[in-house]
Amino acid sequence: MTKTVNLKGASSEITLEVRSGTEGPDAIDITSLYGDMGVFTYDPGFVSTASCHSKITYIDGDEGILRYRGYPIEQLAEHSDFLEVAYLLLYGELPSAEQYSGFNHVITHHTMINESLLHFFDGFHYDAHPMAMMVGVTGSLSAFYHDSIDIQNERHREISAHRMIAKMPTIAAACFKHNLGEPVNYPRNDLSYVGNFLRMMFATPCEDYQLSPAAEKAMNLLFILHADHEQNASTSTVRLAGSSGANPFACIAAGIASLWGPAHGGANEAVLDMLEEIEDVSNIDKFIARAKDKDDPFRLMGFGHRVYKNYDPRAKIIRAVCHEVLEEVDTHDPFFEIALRLEEIALEDEYFVERKLYPNVDFYSGIIYRALGIPRNMFTVMFAIARTTGWVAHWMEMISDPKQRIGRPRQIYVGEPKRDYVSITQR
Ligand code: SDX
Repeated sequence: MTKTVNLKGASSEITLEVRSGTEGPDAIDITSLYGDMGVFTYDPGFVSTASCHSKITYIDGDEGILRYRGYPIEQLAEHSDFLEVAYLLLYGELPSAEQYSGFNHVITHHTMINESLLHFFDGFHYDAHPMAMMVGVTGSLSAFYHDSIDIQNERHREISAHRMIAKMPTIAAACFKHNLGEPVNYPRNDLSYVGNFLRMMFATPCEDYQLSPAAEKAMNLLFILHADHEQNASTSTVRLAGSSGANPFACIAAGIASLWGPAHGGANEAVLDMLEEIEDVSNIDKFIARAKDKDDPFRLMGFGHRVYKNYDPRAKIIRAVCHEVLEEVDTHDPFFEIALRLEEIALEDEYFVERKLYPNVDFYSGIIYRALGIPRNMFTVMFAIARTTGWVAHWMEMISDPKQRIGRPRQIYVGEPKRDYVSITQR
């Protein structure tokens, strides 16, 4: 039995179908609304708008639930590794041992980037922000891989997806080395995806690099937690760019650009800037007051979420791992103490309680990145490496959706009514 709602306008009434998913809220299908009633819906920020059907990730903001292809994030964080999660997001099922081995081989053997790409870095100033370099270099990948950008060819889509997942760590590490003025490290095929990345980041020609199992485990977890998150701003950017038929590398570059914003993936870097500005636990109340002041643009970075009106399940997991990592690397981080106290105070404050503002994935992740020796301006790059898997999974799902068409929202025009041109001598 099809569920419907009736919409009564000034001079007409229409019946709209109500669509249900496997889980989550129903959605009123308004596809015919403009044609039938000559009106638009208005939803800035798309708070109440479902842009597509998707099978990839499910979030319940009230219950603090996050599942990739039906598997709870807590179970994947405990039992899986990033490459297995990447396979799951791309193909919809956990891989068999043989499938995992094959996927690992393919990704491993796509980790090198065209040697000419390395010369791009010569054009960047030494202190260029790594996210600026990531956007530029990723967008230029389509200049090198003409053999896999026919988006109507399923095999091309798969090769491009593999190339992006494989090359993102290599490009990211090259950005870091450019900032340091150190030589780039080439990927090694005998290391894990995460181990390879850490070695490309921190190895120098002067000595053998000792990979820390604790660092590899922590980074693996952070990549799993950041891999996908439904129709967030950067994923929606990738889908919208892809809906015009743009090549996959350009779409992922657009996603990186969107992620960079401090309201989104740039928040992890902004959290550390904030903790540094707070400087001491005794200053927390002053910053809480600023966060509540409507006339002050300051917000408590790492708090709040469009969907989670409960604790972000990823923040819970990262918070627990913070303690482990800090003990493992034997670091006392004063920022961690400030973060714990800030969380405690904010969660008791009526303003935050009333608005259901809880710590999100970005609140604690920077503490771990710092402990692993990753500089603040590389935090969002970490997010981009992990989210590339979610972006390409959504891009592949969007391209192969028979209902997909170019995204083209409308508007409520509030500008000037029709008026005639006035020559400059009359103005
Ligand atoms: C990510 O979408 C995703 O899934 C994103 C992400 C992913 O994995 O892809 O989860 C990753 O981007 C996490 C969010 C990281 N951003 C931050 O930590 C930046 C700080 N947070 C805010 O900018 C904000 O909470 C957002 C952007 C996250 C959410 O913004 P919304 O949903 O548009 O909420 P809002 O701005 O309308 O806020 C509602 C109220 C407002 O107050 P009132 O007007 O009702 O009085 O809460 C207030 C806001 O002023 N508020 C905050 C606040 N966040 C919201 N006040 C102080 N500090 C904050 N952090």
